[in-house]
Amino acid sequence: MSVWHLARRTARMNPSIIREILKLTERPGVLSMAGGLPSPDTFPIEPIRAACDKVLRDTPREALQYAASEGFAPLREWVAAHLAQQGLSVEASQVLITTGSQQGLDLVAKALIDTGAPVAVETPTYLGALQAFTPFEPNFVSLECDDDGPLPQAFRALPAQAPGTRFAYLLPNFQNPTGRVIPRVRREALVNAARSAGVPLVEDNPYGDLWFDEPTPPALASWWPEGSVYLGSFSKVLTPGFRLGYLVAPAELGPKLLQAKQASDLHTPGFNQRVVYEVVRDGFLDRHVPTIRARYRAQRDAMEAALRRHMPAGTTWRAPRGGMFFWLRLPEGLDAIALLERAVAAGVAYVPGAPFFAHTPDPRALRLSFVTLSPAAIEQGITALGRVLHEATAALAVATP
Ligand SMILES: Cc1ncc(COP(=O)(O)O)c(C=O)c1O
Repeated sequence: MSVWHLARRTARMNPSIIREILKLTERPGVLSMAGGLPSPDTFPIEPIRAACDKVLRDTPREALQYAASEGFAPLREWVAAHLAQQGLSVEASQVLITTGSQQGLDLVAKALIDTGAPVAVETPTYLGALQAFTPFEPNFVSLECDDDGPLPQAFRALPAQAPGTRFAYLLPNFQNPTGRVIPRVRREALVNAARSAGVPLVEDNPYGDLWFDEPTPPALASWWPEGSVYLGSFSKVLTPGFRLGYLVAPAELGPKLLQAKQASDLHTPGFNQRVVYEVVRDGFLDRHVPTIRARYRAQRDAMEAALRRHMPAGTTWRAPRGGMFFWLRLPEGLDAIALLERAVAAGVAYVPGAPFFAHTPDPRALRLSFVTLSPAAIEQGITALGRVLHEATAALAVATP
């Protein structure tokens, strides 16, 4: 018998299916559309090298010492100013630098979720948020959604359906996994409904800057700052390797989130914060992010064209207007988990949609990333996927005469 007695919360922790799939995709020759990784070709290596040199030359001892839990003050100021682009009016004192926005999700959960407390999420939602919230044993409430995001009436139903809902977790821009954007009119309606229902918002926005056609509408938090926590990240516009994100919280909540962070990791690495500040301080992202957009837009177009050519009838999707993902629904009768092995054997990998649902999964859904493969490789991978799906639909037709 083991000497280790696991905490009850571990019973609900499962190995991430995505991580398991990523192992499959490491097989040589597999074109992976499964990862949620930004393209490494977008990492600005030379500016980062120069910034590392500068930090080590000018402030080596400060950069290598323990640092403030709130974050590096100039970076907090930069974040506060940058957020004006999202329609947010933020004081640097409200900004908490986090170790990736993933840590922001953990801190919010620690500060707000008691065992059994309702937490509302989109249908589907970001798998990593479900993983961050689950150890705190919430009762997830799946908000009914359409192509424009959650329905305002789903919020209006919350007081009766799930009284005491601690917060609703929303991804308004190029959602992971569906790629959808909540339009401006829906945003206002949702914030009004949330406010009337007394349900605060946790708004997660790592993809908002990666628009292809037009900038996204203002952040949800801009309509209800005192009822919103806003999460941002440097992972998709610079590099995820520094593990740098941030959150903006109302004054009422800030101290508890800060204490949760102190308990968690004392502070986000000061060296990383200083390097990133050196990179971004002079408007670098205003020049750099358009290059990411142009690259991802061309990859999006390549995937859209390939899908149109190769998907069997009955497959549905909406071309994303930014971000990194297509979300497909396979023809009726097909199961994305069951087909994954065959797809990998045919040389292409995707993520089945099921783990992105807090409740009833959609077995026909799957997510494809378009950002880490060249247009030619996208064509090759979608051709292979199309072949697997055509075979599966043909087999289905034989099985059901
Ligand atoms: C919606 C969403 N939120 C948060 C994260 C975590 O990002 P990071 O911790 O790198 O900032 C991701 C990463 O893929 C994401 O897709």
